[in-house]
Amino acid sequence: MSSKKWHEYSEEEILRANIEKYQRDDIVKFYEDFEEPRYSYIEYQIILAAVLKAMREKLGRPVRAVDMCGGAGKAAFVIKSIQPDSEVFLVDLSDKMLNIARQRAAKLGLELNIVEADAFSFLEQDVEYDLFVYSSALHHFKDPINLLKVSAGRMNPKGMIVTIADPTTLIKSRRYRFFQFLATKRDVKLHLIKQCFQRRIKKAATADEEFDVAEYQTYTGIDDHQLCRDLASIDLHPLLHLRYPAGEPYMTKIMPYLGLCWAFSTVICLSPDDYQANVELMKQEIKSQLPFRIRFF
Ligand SMILES: C[S@@+](CC[C@H](N)C(=O)[O-])C[C@H]1O[C@@H](n2cnc3c(N)ncnc32)[C@H](O)[C@@H]1O
Repeated sequence: MSSKKWHEYSEEEILRANIEKYQRDDIVKFYEDFEEPRYSYIEYQIILAAVLKAMREKLGRPVRAVDMCGGAGKAAFVIKSIQPDSEVFLVDLSDKMLNIARQRAAKLGLELNIVEADAFSFLEQDVEYDLFVYSSALHHFKDPINLLKVSAGRMNPKGMIVTIADPTTLIKSRRYRFFQFLATKRDVKLHLIKQCFQRRIKKAATADEEFDVAEYQTYTGIDDHQLCRDLASIDLHPLLHLRYPAGEPYMTKIMPYLGLCWAFSTVICLSPDDYQANVELMKQEIKSQLPFRIRFF
């Protein structure tokens, strides 16, 4: 057990924790299971369709996109399904996660450029892309703003960055934790109760708290409004910013009414003037097609 706080870990140490974590067979299996059809990831379909439509109009050609920290390629496959003539790179540090994507691509007869690399190493190459997607990925970095800034440095001036499926700080709230507990299966509930008691005993014995370095911000969430302000201050313009209720499809219909829009997505561009005229239409398309309520900011 370490007495070090998460903020005292370097980006390099956090990267090493991620490399270790995403080589574990139980973690990889978890992502394999998430490929089940019941998880439709409808928000990916709809948000990326709106973005790709606007980009096609501006670029006049299919996109060159990167699903960064893409794991099993959730976003990469959605981009390919919306725009089959797009060129899609799937980048991840875990070969085991990429193997899931390799098998799926072979099954579907799709061509993906699969690259085993960590994000910053990939971005060192002097190559330009139109679209970067960070799906459930920002929270794995100590400094997401720096990551987005470096990505923007490899971006076409008419390009965009889409972040999706990162948690807001709402996940720290008692309300979120209570409903998360209610929604779990009985055996998981019992496990959580046991864990809770064990933690109390441990806490009494020592001031240190154990945590997963790779996953720390999954439990603290990201201050998404601050993120947008920080982006604007370095001339990266959040064109759209929304909070939505990710999870089991039936729960996502109820969650907004309980104030549980816990995930966020931000669409960022370099030149807002190019896309300003598209914003209202993109918002309308996203809002009207999603099967649950969302909030734009
Ligand atoms: C929560 S998973 C998300 C996977 C996928 N994007 C999705 O939405 O299902 C996080 C992924 O980020 C990858 N990852 C973490 N840190 C990374 C880094 N510094 N560079 C590249 N990939 C990284 C992990 O290997 C893992 O596959």
